[in-house]
Amino acid sequence: MRGFLLSALAVCASVVAQTSVDSYVATESPIAKQGILNNIGPNGSKSQGAKAGVVIASPSTTNPDYLFTWTRDSSLVFKALIDQFISGADTTLLGQIQNFVTSEQILQQVSNPSGTVSTGGLGEPHYNIDETAFTAAWGRPQRDGPALRATAMIEYANWLIKNTSVSNVVSNLWPIIKLDLDYVAADWNQTTFDLWEEVSSSSFFTTAVQHRSLREGAALATTLGQTSVVSNYITQAGNILCFLQSYWNPTGGYITANTGGGRSGKDANTALASIHTFDPAAGCDATTFQPCSDKALSSLKVYVDAFRSIYTINSGIASNAAVATGRYPEDSYMGGNPWYLATAAVAEQLYDALIVWKAQGSLNVTSISLPFFQQFLPSVAVGTYASSTSTFTTLTAAVKTFADGFIATNAKYTPSGGGLAEQYSRSNGAPVSAVDLTWSYAATITAFEARAGFASPGWGAAGLTVPTTCQTSGGGGGTGTGGSGTVAVTFNVMATTFFGENIYITGSVDSLQDWSTDTALILNPANYPIWSITVNVPASSDIQYKYIRKVNGVFESWESDPNNEFTSPSGGSFIVNDVWR
Ligand code: NOJ
Ligand code: NOJ
Repeated sequence: MRGFLLSALAVCASVVAQTSVDSYVATESPIAKQGILNNIGPNGSKSQGAKAGVVIASPSTTNPDYLFTWTRDSSLVFKALIDQFISGADTTLLGQIQNFVTSEQILQQVSNPSGTVSTGGLGEPHYNIDETAFTAAWGRPQRDGPALRATAMIEYANWLIKNTSVSNVVSNLWPIIKLDLDYVAADWNQTTFDLWEEVSSSSFFTTAVQHRSLREGAALATTLGQTSVVSNYITQAGNILCFLQSYWNPTGGYITANTGGGRSGKDANTALASIHTFDPAAGCDATTFQPCSDKALSSLKVYVDAFRSIYTINSGIASNAAVATGRYPEDSYMGGNPWYLATAAVAEQLYDALIVWKAQGSLNVTSISLPFFQQFLPSVAVGTYASSTSTFTTLTAAVKTFADGFIATNAKYTPSGGGLAEQYSRSNGAPVSAVDLTWSYAATITAFEARAGFASPGWGAAGLTVPTTCQTSGGGGGTGTGGSGTVAVTFNVMATTFFGENIYITGSVDSLQDWSTDTALILNPANYPIWSITVNVPASSDIQYKYIRKVNGVFESWESDPNNEFTSPSGGSFIVNDVWR
């Protein structure tokens, strides 16, 4: 009787949770959709000054200033809109999609600090919203952008092939897509900043989306009769798939986000990669780290668990229940808080997994995914469970409840009115950083769609195998440092301070503490108001850094964006003279 009551209570609790998630989905969906449209020029209500088809990251103009257009954010946002258009969910989006194509075609040609269209400029992370170059220091290049843009446009191209003609796509869309794919094929193994614009090395998300873009690009090229590029795209895709395997950390049971950065490597990067390379036809394939693959599930658990004890708002939550998650546990940007898009990505990966398990009528537990499943059923053993078994029923129900919990967490910290910022406070859940982040809205919508069982079209992930020989070295993909040696750099910054207040430095390489505020290096005020420190940094490398202030050792403030930046010389020593900004 007691057991019955307890399980009846548990059923009740999950029904209540589901009901509140249902109602959040119902109220938040139109708000999120409108939130996206408001941030697209020229007519979006919050994007005055943005050219047609330009997606602003957020209307926030100070602390942080996000009134720019990022290739990554824009491509992920338009991918979600193109999904809605081709599925028939919203047939009014055609004009917006065409504006997007036109604006990206313009941006591709804008010369910028990363180069021209033919010398690396496609890797530029963001632009002004009037389609001119952003020229201040930034973490560049970011090589996920061209791949994500190609993926969005390929989905649209495939619709156009069915609904207009091959020749229309060959003349209008293919030239844009080909520029991005050629860039990916040529430069995928070069050093890149990660999607969080901080770590310069190789990055799982970037590698995964590059792989996807070349696979579907090769298929599109074949359909369009553009056969000259196909074999190179396929060869490079094989090399990338080979390199992709190297991010797996078998001891830790997770995908390491970056090859550099000096962090744990537990990062939303990997869940985002899984959902943005989801191909339902590939089942639970671990080679491409599909959402229900043993490696991706194990990694998801390790990533989620990294946030249980570090955020106050997660305290008291059962160790197998959903929590708020952020970019990575060591994050200190804007306080290093939970992000709506990260928490939504966890839910989406789980919903994607449920789609596949239901479609294939079974679920496989391996020694790698065992800890993930044991969270919900401690007695579960390695094996394959058909949908007729109680183990399948129990596990899929628990995973659904777990997934809904991440949505419920975002819901709990969504302010009345439904606006979604970038982050919410780790201590009290109040919105933090950029308001109306377009990507937060898109991430919410795609998670809701996955919850409803919707999967966007696949990209050819089924049945891929890692080539037996592959070339992954040659330019990058390694440590992220340009040379082997280091150079001594003296940082001088003029800053007036009050008693107890000190100046510290943190930045993009290990010796600059990888953007940690906790372990930032204190400068010496012997020549006050000039504060100084000498640090060994990698030679011939792009170095980004900022000064921060602490009062009696407690973090107080960052210098404003953008980052400070220089390229270190190949040897010797170097001095930089800054004024606190
Ligand atoms: C701004 C970037 O957008 C953000 O991702 C990064 O953490 C900070 N700059 C570091 O200064
Ligand atoms: C900072 C995030 O780290 C980065 O991923 C994003 O592209 C920009 N903000 C703009 O939203």
